[in-house]
Amino acid sequence: MNRINGPTILPSILAADFSKMGEEVSAAVESGADGLHIDVMDGRFVPPITFGIQMIKDIKPYMKEVPMEVHLMVHEPITMIPELSDIGVDSVIVHLEACLDLEDTLLAIRSHGMKSGVAVKPDTEIDELESVLDQLDIVLAMTVEPGYGGQAYIASVEPKIKRIRKLIDERDLHTQLEVDGGINESTIKLAYLAGATRFVCGSAIFGPSKNVKTQITKLRQVLDSS
Ligand code: DX5
Ligand code: ZN
Repeated sequence: MNRINGPTILPSILAADFSKMGEEVSAAVESGADGLHIDVMDGRFVPPITFGIQMIKDIKPYMKEVPMEVHLMVHEPITMIPELSDIGVDSVIVHLEACLDLEDTLLAIRSHGMKSGVAVKPDTEIDELESVLDQLDIVLAMTVEPGYGGQAYIASVEPKIKRIRKLIDERDLHTQLEVDGGINESTIKLAYLAGATRFVCGSAIFGPSKNVKTQITKLRQVLDSS
């Protein structure tokens, strides 16, 4: 079920087994994921390299009708936008710290018919974000330093999440507030109470000893009881 208006759980395939990506994506899709979060890293904006356009294209047929969100941890992401649109990606999130011209980049995303998102690292101030907030479908407050899965949630980001929530509500915007990094059965409630509504979960969902459906159900139960 796609709960567009309620809290949204987005499995991050960064924590999946890359050698059987089709099966991992299908497991998430069939387990009720609201969308899939796809982390592209370029070895420059962040140290690791994950994958690029070809992998996203190959994953798409496994998605069925589930939305595909691409989190671009790449320097100057504007160059990737036309190809992502051609594949049928639903949402593109770029880093405020990585764009030479943020407004142009957001315009490019939207003019290609995709939802636009901006991510901010844990220590990034939100002044620049405030000026583009009304052009955004998604704000992503990183709750770890971008680049690696399996890191611990940084609780000191919560005041910033609350400030963004307040700005969205004061301006009566439709912008969704997302968190990414260290989100698990304990921390999801903290981020939810701070005002987030979209939750990226990598290592809390995928892993050798984990059942994807069981993990998504547990996370959903925490949200339902919060
Ligand atoms: C990290 C990525 C995350 C990552 C989260 O830079 O943006 O999406 O997959 O992984 P967990 O949930 O394990 O912290
Ligand atoms: Zn991510």
